[in-house]
Amino acid sequence: MCGIIARIGADDGVDRLLGGLERLEYRGYDSAGIAVENGVGLAVQKCSGQVNELKESVSDSGIYGGIGIGHTRWSTHGPPTDDNAHPHTDSSGDVAVVHNGVIDNHAELREELKAEGREFTSDTDTEVIPHLFERHLEDHAPEEAFREAVRDLDGSYAIAAMVEGEDAVFAARRGSPLVLGVGDGEYFLASDVPAFLEHTDEVVYFEDDEVGVIRPDDVELSTLAGEPVERSSEIVSWDPEETGKGGYDHFMRKEIETQNTSLTNAIQGRIDDEGEEPDLDDFPAGTFEGVERVQFVACGTSFHAAKYGAQLLNKAGVAAQAFRASEYDDAIPVDSDTLVVAVTQSGETADTLGALDRATAGRARTVAVTNVVGSSAAREADDALFIRAGPEIGVAATKTFSSQVVALSLLAHRISADAAGDSPWDDPRAYYDELKRLPDHVQTVLDREIAEGVADDYLGSDAFFFIGRGLAYPVAIEGALKFKEITYEHAEGFAAGELKHGPLALVTPQTPIFTVVTGGEDETTVTNAQEAQTRGAPIVAVSPADHRITDVADAHLPIPDTHPDLAGLLANVQLQLLSYHTADSLGRSIDKPRNLAKSVTVE
Ligand code: M6R
Repeated sequence: MCGIIARIGADDGVDRLLGGLERLEYRGYDSAGIAVENGVGLAVQKCSGQVNELKESVSDSGIYGGIGIGHTRWSTHGPPTDDNAHPHTDSSGDVAVVHNGVIDNHAELREELKAEGREFTSDTDTEVIPHLFERHLEDHAPEEAFREAVRDLDGSYAIAAMVEGEDAVFAARRGSPLVLGVGDGEYFLASDVPAFLEHTDEVVYFEDDEVGVIRPDDVELSTLAGEPVERSSEIVSWDPEETGKGGYDHFMRKEIETQNTSLTNAIQGRIDDEGEEPDLDDFPAGTFEGVERVQFVACGTSFHAAKYGAQLLNKAGVAAQAFRASEYDDAIPVDSDTLVVAVTQSGETADTLGALDRATAGRARTVAVTNVVGSSAAREADDALFIRAGPEIGVAATKTFSSQVVALSLLAHRISADAAGDSPWDDPRAYYDELKRLPDHVQTVLDREIAEGVADDYLGSDAFFFIGRGLAYPVAIEGALKFKEITYEHAEGFAAGELKHGPLALVTPQTPIFTVVTGGEDETTVTNAQEAQTRGAPIVAVSPADHRITDVADAHLPIPDTHPDLAGLLANVQLQLLSYHTADSLGRSIDKPRNLAKSVTVE
């Protein structure tokens, strides 16, 4: 979704702004632009299309300046045209604004402002902001005028604004992410940390309803009401190297291939060497006493991880359910005995944050399971468990799914032990020992390089189906989501037992069935696969080498033997590789699939 970058310094910062926009590309966008103050006036360059095209026009124009704002736009109000690209300006061109979010009362404001004679040049909701700022500058100094303009807005926003002649960027946040980077003699503002991580790892997160005035040598934070805010900076632990491709052709490939490292980080220090319960610092034994039921809320890939977590809890006798966050409405019973776990890689997904709000309103206790320290979910939930996967740049979630499942499995062990007064698992030690081996098992899958050949064999099929039962079901639906997301081919995931209740009508020799079996409760899955095979569909088993399904399958994506609660993760790595190689053969835009955004900040 839209991305904001601002740079506030004394020397020319245009390259830093453009570099920041490149780092934001992964969020998804269809136009881009910058505005800089160069001592003579505000210079704006913007266009629909790619940051590369913007770079060319900026270079041709020769604009420069130490203080500037930039934006990548993912269209919501109005198509991706040059006029609709940010920054937007007021009638005089003295104010420039970039915005992420949705202004709910933009239509009324636009009518009012037009009636005052202010001229609009775009279809966007954002354009009301520079006009409001201009209106209040008629009666107020810039900081107060900005505050007044922000007070006029209903909806969600992260805003960065400039006024000609002012050595400052004005910023505000409500419901959309905004973080300040404290550099050496310069400051940055951005929608997320990777945008400026190569320049600084020292950050200050804006809270909702806060306003910032950032000058080259000074930052003032205050509430929207004008009360000063004191907040210390913090250091983010991400390595700038992690935001580069590191020699791989695509971020997605890199993120698949480095899962042994991200999983090692997810597990590190969280498994007691001898104990029968996880060692989660912020969640000591007894933390979840009194919890009667667990509700997970999440979207997309995170929902599939949540489903995995819910099934683990069910196996341990705890009532748990996973909801798609956008379907978690007021009709769902929630009370103070309910634990609501929001699973979100970015921590900024609007649907998930909305569900978290509903849970809080219902007096539930809340935990965010997220990758981003300082994200909205981490700050809004009562507690946070970090998956420690490092930055994920590819729009398709890969390493973060694996780390989410690991973190959720440890949380499930903590919750179920607290609920039962003791670990309800048959042999928790066996599980923890296998969990420690998981990064090595993932490496074994990666080293085998079988998925590429299977991807080639089935290229050109009419559709791709993925089935599984129990813990293999979330893996099947995740496999299908990944496949459709980056290959643009038709792919569906089904509960194996559901095939015969409808989807079998779709099955032909041109519809391979990727059948996930984990060595758990999946004997019947073999029968379900055979029912499809009898009707002509090729079966690709994703399973341990000695599983019975390999006797009937037409092809095999093998996974190492491991604990049945972990086998799904290894199957998922094979399916990630399958999607990747298919998309690569089809020449798709793997890291930035069409129409999609990494961080979906609108409902
Ligand atoms: O940041 P989140 O985990 O909350 O994002 C949720 C979904 O938008 C995300 O998982 C999406 O489905 C992925 N692009 C799938 O690969």
